[in-house]
Amino acid sequence: MSTTIAVLTGAGISTSAGIPDFRGPDGVWTKHPDQMSVYDIDLFLHNKEDREYSWRWQKESPVWNAQPGAAHKALVKLEQAGMLSLLATQNFDALHEKAGNSSDVIVNLHGTIGTSHCMKCHKQYATADIMAHLDEEPDPHCHRRLPYRGDMPCNGIIKTDVVYFGEALPDGAMEKSYERACKADELWVIGSTLEVYPAASIVPVAAQAGVPITIMNMGSTQYDRLATRLIHDDIAVALPKLVDETIAKG
Ligand SMILES: NC(=O)c1ccc[n+]([C@@H]2O[C@H](COP(=O)([O-])OP(=O)(O)OC[C@H]3O[C@@H](n4cnc5c(N)ncnc54)[C@H](O)[C@@H]3O)[C@@H](O)[C@H]2O)c1
Ligand SMILES: [Zn+2]
Repeated sequence: MSTTIAVLTGAGISTSAGIPDFRGPDGVWTKHPDQMSVYDIDLFLHNKEDREYSWRWQKESPVWNAQPGAAHKALVKLEQAGMLSLLATQNFDALHEKAGNSSDVIVNLHGTIGTSHCMKCHKQYATADIMAHLDEEPDPHCHRRLPYRGDMPCNGIIKTDVVYFGEALPDGAMEKSYERACKADELWVIGSTLEVYPAASIVPVAAQAGVPITIMNMGSTQYDRLATRLIHDDIAVALPKLVDETIAKG
């Protein structure tokens, strides 16, 4: 049996794909604290202007337009080698999906921008379809016809599946992450300050279960003391290298 690796990724894996992190020196919130309102569920639910702003911002932001980089592709290689048992991510940029990792291993702890839902009837939409018509419909609503309402359109508010502030994490996301992280031979944390809970708690939970932990992050994290290996290099270079070494060892 080859080694199995559980991976937790954060904003730092996507900075080289052109998406700034939130809390780093060039972070979105460091520079523009007002941008936090883009992902505020109360504002989104109650004000048309805030919904329009949130949709427009998401369409124009690099989160929507970015393409996976070398580090994302390295994790596809790890899965293809049969060694990746979990890819839990705090990112909602859908870059792990775009790179080619499978839904079997990906857990989007903070949701994803790739899909959207009607908040009333729960119909799923591809966010790409909604973005394509955003100029005509800046505050997207559900057009599904409801037979039980005389074929009237549902007209519910549509929202991307990004977890906004004030919303719960997707069902089962933490449970699956804890379970797979605790069963893995190693846990790798890639590009996260480990400040956001409950996502960060995967690290102490896995450590408690005796899983060796690698933290790859330019800056320090609050769980550095639990790590058996710390790598302070650029993820775009260091992760492909670590994956190749790990596959070579088997
Ligand atoms: N891409 C995205 O989807 C995205 C982007 C920003 C923020 N977020 C959200 O905001 C929260 C951010 O928390 P977080 O812990 O993921 O990120 P964070 O912004 O708190 O921390 C990112 C860390 O990555 C490090 N880093 C950045 N670029 C690096 C590189 N090239 N090589 C090595 N290290 C690098 C920084 O030093 C920093 O410590 C998450 O909850 C996430 O949902 C998502
Ligand atoms: Zn609907």
